[in-house]
Amino acid sequence: MTNTDTLGGRFTFPGTSLTVHRMGYGAMQLAGPQVWGPPRDSEAAASVLREAMALGIDHIDTSDAYGPHVTNQLIRATLHPYPKNVVIVSKVGGRRGEDKSWLPALSPAELRSGIQDNLRHLGLDAIDIVNLRMMSMTPTEGPLDQELAVLLELKREGLVRHIGLSNVTARQVEQAQALTEIVCVQNHYNLAHRGDDALIDALARQGIAYVPFFPLGGFTPLQSSTLTGVANELGATPMQVALAWLLHRSPNILLIPGTSSVAHLRENVAAASLVLPAKGLAALDGIAR
Ligand SMILES: NC(=O)c1ccc[n+]([C@@H]2O[C@H](COP(=O)([O-])OP(=O)(O)OC[C@H]3O[C@@H](n4cnc5c(N)ncnc54)[C@H](OP(=O)(O)O)[C@@H]3O)[C@@H](O)[C@H]2O)c1
Repeated sequence: MTNTDTLGGRFTFPGTSLTVHRMGYGAMQLAGPQVWGPPRDSEAAASVLREAMALGIDHIDTSDAYGPHVTNQLIRATLHPYPKNVVIVSKVGGRRGEDKSWLPALSPAELRSGIQDNLRHLGLDAIDIVNLRMMSMTPTEGPLDQELAVLLELKREGLVRHIGLSNVTARQVEQAQALTEIVCVQNHYNLAHRGDDALIDALARQGIAYVPFFPLGGFTPLQSSTLTGVANELGATPMQVALAWLLHRSPNILLIPGTSSVAHLRENVAAASLVLPAKGLAALDGIAR
């Protein structure tokens, strides 16, 4: 694979005029420990956002539940007014308990106030893309028509431009598609966690973005001797190889690795230029088989 675009090439969300580089940025790590409260170092967190812009990143993933509110407020304080090409994707469906837990917030009133909170804290009149985040621990079958009806109402009111889904099953994606256009799906997927292989391929056939969360393993960073071996051979880091493998996995995969570190951000962006040789790819493919 040769990758001449330093940010992994571009992708247009289906039925939209929104085009982003495949290498984006996930802002969850900017809040304090356990995604709660202010960052340990606010200036360092702002530097990460500024560096993301300087590197050409134009896709930021966020949520008002990060902090809560802190991450969105930091994005606004650092980047507003946003460059025209930047696409901000947020999500609704969850809220934080006082004990830092992640709770469902899927009632019509909660979804509506979730959108209003995002708009206020991000300083936007409309959100480019909102993911409806279902709040079971892992994707669980069940209807989402009532929740989608609320988002469609908010779309008609002009507060939401496009709709995506998060933490959903393939069947739920199909059910949602019967009700509205779905432009992206954000589920847990990485080198070691590949339950969505069939879904990724199905979405690729329809030109819908698949945006893996925890691309580096999230709270449990990926660890594999095979991954380290391939990285050593390439003179790259294991995290870079994990990201390059995702970019190679399917053209509809968009990356939003999370980091609170400028050095890690640069390292992650550089992964988009990494060329994985066939032997290395075969070894990586075998990790979760
Ligand atoms: N839809 C959902 O339910 C959902 C759930 C979780 C996350 N998300 C979104 O997905 C994004 C990505 O997920 P994530 O941030 O949780 O997990 P991740 O990207 O898999 O991993 C982030 C972790 O990896 C570390 N890291 C990042 N780059 C590194 C590098 N080059 N070398 C070594 N360590 C590195 C980070 O620490 P440092 O800060 O030290 O770099 C952090 O601990 C989030 O930011 C969020 O926007 C969505």
